[in-house]
This record gives sequence, structure tokens and C-alpha cells, in this order.
Amino acid sequence: ADVFTYDPGFTSTASCDSSITYIDGEEGVLLHRGYPIDQLAGKSHFLEVCYLLLYGELPSSAQLEDFEKRVTMHTMVHEQMHRFFTGFRRDAHPMAVMVGVVGAMSAFYHDSTDIHDPWQREVASIRLIAKMPTIAAMAYKYNIGQPFVYPRNDLDYASNFLRMCFSVPAEEYVPDPILSRAMDRIFTLHADHEQNASTSTVRLASSSGANPFACIAAGIACLWGPAHGGANQAALECLKEIGSVDRIPEFIAKAKDPDDNFRLMGFGHRVYKNFDPRAKVMKQSADEVLDLLGVENNPILAVAKELEKQALEDEYFIKRKLFPNVDFYSGIILEAMGFPTSMFTPIFALSRTVGWISQWKEMIEDPSMKIGRPRQLYTGATLRDYVDVEKR
Ligand code: CMC
Repeated sequence: ADVFTYDPGFTSTASCDSSITYIDGEEGVLLHRGYPIDQLAGKSHFLEVCYLLLYGELPSSAQLEDFEKRVTMHTMVHEQMHRFFTGFRRDAHPMAVMVGVVGAMSAFYHDSTDIHDPWQREVASIRLIAKMPTIAAMAYKYNIGQPFVYPRNDLDYASNFLRMCFSVPAEEYVPDPILSRAMDRIFTLHADHEQNASTSTVRLASSSGANPFACIAAGIACLWGPAHGGANQAALECLKEIGSVDRIPEFIAKAKDPDDNFRLMGFGHRVYKNFDPRAKVMKQSADEVLDLLGVENNPILAVAKELEKQALEDEYFIKRKLFPNVDFYSGIILEAMGFPTSMFTPIFALSRTVGWISQWKEMIEDPSMKIGRPRQLYTGATLRDYVDVEKR
């Protein structure tokens, strides 16, 4: 019989080789194409990071200008796609809408579904990066019963997204530059994270030759789960459930109780067993945004700060190397900006789209690419004969 290595959860198996993102979980290091995430989040901006992830090098100013122009040319979605949105219940989760609408893109953009044509691959990549904020904002607007806001191409990527979410016909929303910067940082810090569950899903789906829109829809579906992208929503809901600083010990005790399934959402990471380098930058951004919006006394933030402190001093968390992750702080920022928790994961999805596409592109362009076909350890019945129904 064949012999297989058994590695549930892929804790020690590399599924591919990749030159995009490097993580050293023990040391808290995250590099994109060799550049540390804190430098990219501090000095660069999201569309430049998109270029870096997609093409491997930082762009010259002419290359960046051309790339940004190409992205803004594709920000609108086909007008008929509005019917997809309106076909959903108003109270549908925006992630459910995004899975559907992004999957439906393969029915609208036939000229960029041939994965063997490099030009079509390029157009599909640009379309996805350009349209994802529009789709996420439309999912939000539909959910709250407001008219869709069309993109504006004279705005930067983050400001355009904020405007599409918060403008109404009666009043144009003009984002404060600090908020646009914080939004851009959230996008940048989520842009890629090597072979996480959703990226591995995109790779596995694409390995069969499926079109890029269908594969990204699969990635969005995977990201939705609370152990992955859904964690930012779950983290904020957890802070709200705790509600006040005096209840923190009770919740820490619940998290430690082996007979209780409760986990402190926003703590722990499969790969970072020291600290999450993205969380450091996100914490700074959270402070900036809260200063600006004058919500220093926000009870949720007070709970977050105290919870962070108590958990970091607790033997249980220290022993298991459970540190606040990026979602712990991003949830606080998004809440302060006025997003409902249901929009947190769609924002993660739009940020991660470039990572999914870069990994997809790398895989398709690799001549040694094979269909992903994991094996299993069979634990079922041994060979037996069929028994007619009347004899059972
Ligand atoms: N609260 C309390 N205990 C925890 C937590 C937590 N958040 N996370 C892990 N533990 C405990 C767990 O019970 C186990 O204890 P024991 O050894 O006594 O059985 C130990 O720590 C190891 O846990 P694990 O589940 O084996 O660790 P993992 O590496 O498989 O899980 C994780 C990583 C992120 C799924 C997990 O830490 C978790 O569920 N965290 C909360 C959800 C969350 O914040 N997820 C966001 C991840 S970052 C975003 C992304 O990259 O997608």
C-alpha cells in the first residue's frame, strides 16, 4: 500500500514554493519580496505594495503612475451586476454577497477568464484589485438600504473606498487624511500572508485550471470563518461581550478553563508564536485614529487595553505564546471609523485579494504546476459485500 505523511492542519508540510512572502513566526518577522512589513506600512502605500507583490519589485514612479491608472480604469462594475446585489436579502451578510458577486464576475468578464493567456491574466488581476472595494462598498450600501455610490477615480484607493461606504446623495463624505491613511494601512497590513487557509484555498482551486474570479470567490468563502478572516469581527464582538474592565478576569478564566470552549478572539496565531509584527503597526494606527475621533474614553478600547495587559501577564497565555494579533487592533479602528462588525471581514477580503492574485499568478506561471491532490489515511470499513436492502 502507498505510504503517506499524515499532517492534519498542515502544521509541518509546505504545499508549494513561493518567492512572495517570508514569515519567521518565532522571531515575529514578515517580509514581502524581502521588505519588512513595518517599513511598507510606514513608508509605502497599498497600491505600491500591490505592485510589489504582483511583479516582485518596487515600481519606478512612472511604473507606479501607470499601474494606478490601470487600476482606476477598472473601478466600476458592470451595471447589470447591480441586479446580483438586489437579488440578495437586505440582511444578508456582506461576505455572503461578496462570495456570490465575485464568483459571478466570471460570467461578466469573459475576456479575462483564460488562464493560459498572460494578457487575460493581467486584466483579471487588475480588475479584481480595482473592483473589490466597489463590490465591498456596494454590499454594505445594499445592507443598510442606501443607494450605491459610484467610484471616483481622482481619489486614492482608500479614500475612494471610504467615500463609497459613507457618502449619501444628500451629503458628500470627505475622509480625513488620517482616516484614509489608517484605512490604507489596514489594506497594506492584510495584503498577503503566505500560505494561510484562504490563500491555500485559492491555490488549490486554481490548480484545477478554474478561472480567477471563481478561485478568488473560493478564497473569500474560506476567509469568512472566525478562525481566519472572521476573527476581526469575532474579536470586536468578544470585547463588546466583555463590556467593562471589571469583567475581564471572568472572561480570562473562561478562556483558560479546559472544559469551556470559549477563546479570547484576537489572541493567538498559528504561525506567530512571539508577536505579530502587523499588530505593532496596527496598534499605532489605532491610537492615531482614536486620538483624532476623540474617543480615547471609548469603553471598548478601555477593555481592549486592559485585556491586552492582563492576558500578556497571565501564565496561561505566556506559556502558550498567545499574543494579540492584527485583528485585535483592526477591529477597534474599523469600529471607530463607523463600520459595522459585519464589514470587517469584507475589508479583510478586499485587502487580501492582491495576495491571492499574486500567489495565483505565481502558481500559474510555474511550468511545474500540478493539480493539488492531497491524500488521506483511510480509517473506514475494510472490504465487505453489498447486502440487499430487504436483508439489512
Ligand atoms: N484563547 C484562549 N486559549 C487559546 C486561544 C485563545 N484565543 N488560542 C489558542 N488557545 C489555546 C488552546 O486552547 C490550546 O491550549 P491547550 O494546549 O491547553 O489545549 C493552545 O492555546 C494552542 O491552541 P491551538 O488551537 O492548538 O493553536 P493553533 O495554532 O491551532 O490556533 C488560532 C491558532 C489563531 C486558530 C487560535 O489561537 C485561535 O483560535 N485564536 C482566536 C481566533 C483568532 O484570533 N484568529 C485570528 C488569527 S490571525 C488572522 C489570520 O491570519 O487569519
